Amino acid sequence: MRTTKPLLISAAFDRYRLRIIVTQRKYEAAGPPIAPIQWLRPASASSSSTAASDAKEAKGEDEEKTESFVGAKASHRVLEVGCGAGNTVFPLLDACPDPKQLFVYCCDFAPKAVEIVRGHSNYRKDQCFAFVCDIVRMEQIALPFPKESLDAISCIFVLSAISPSEQALAVRNMAEQLKPGGVLLFKDYGRYDMTQLRFKKERVIASEDNLYARGDGTLVYYFTQDELDSLFVGAGLVKEQNVVDRRLIVNRGKQIKMYRVWLQCKYRKPRR
Ligand SMILES: C[S@@+](CC[C@H](N)C(=O)[O-])C[C@H]1O[C@@H](n2cnc3c(N)ncnc32)[C@H](O)[C@@H]1O
Repeated sequence: MRTTKPLLISAAFDRYRLRIIVTQRKYEAAGPPIAPIQWLRPASASSSSTAASDAKEAKGEDEEKTESFVGAKASHRVLEVGCGAGNTVFPLLDACPDPKQLFVYCCDFAPKAVEIVRGHSNYRKDQCFAFVCDIVRMEQIALPFPKESLDAISCIFVLSAISPSEQALAVRNMAEQLKPGGVLLFKDYGRYDMTQLRFKKERVIASEDNLYARGDGTLVYYFTQDELDSLFVGAGLVKEQNVVDRRLIVNRGKQIKMYRVWLQCKYRKPRR
């Protein structure tokens, strides 16, 4: 039965990739599900102890004796960074509901987002652990898993919200958590996406081309493939995929055409 596990996980990721597109459209149509101000970087010092103690609590007393950290027993461990309301976490859990095969950690720097994920009816403590974490400051918190213990990290429309001066650190922090052979799955805005072209000039951040401030104060950066390659290779990862996903989306009702440019990447940590 050794072949079924990789097949199941790979099927889960295929469904997951589809979900990413649906999620992105939902965000743009409806806006974030929580008040915009709560999406700005919160002070994270107090969250560090919370992540560690919550992880201990999540293990429960019985498991604490046998499991070295929450999720330790699963054959595959995945972290979704910037999980928002969990729009990609729950389909992943649905696609692979066996806690022996898959454990999903998810984090967001917005405590409200983590609260929403934890309160979701499909949040299962035996297979999921949500915690507050700013991926730029990962070294400041006690993570619920050891370094180099993750098979995959997904980073979906998150890096674009981080200032370019901090993006390399965020990517290095993520790469550190991957096992040798682990993979970083990435999707985000590409240069000249329709939403970039629609920004008014006064929204551009003067010091950075292609960086904009939305009305709610959040940032959005539009990447090129080369920039992403430098970021990921700079963190010691090896390219498996770096593609532009260009789509023409037609809303026949409103008679509008939307030219979307998204970038999708897969970079792997080399085996030793
Ligand atoms: C556009 S949403 C994407 C949510 C989710 N990845 C999805 O695909 O449904 C971006 C999320 O990233 C989070 N975020 C932004 N910067 C972050 C950071 N430095 N560390 C952790 N989360 C961050 C935001 O709070 C928000 O929930």
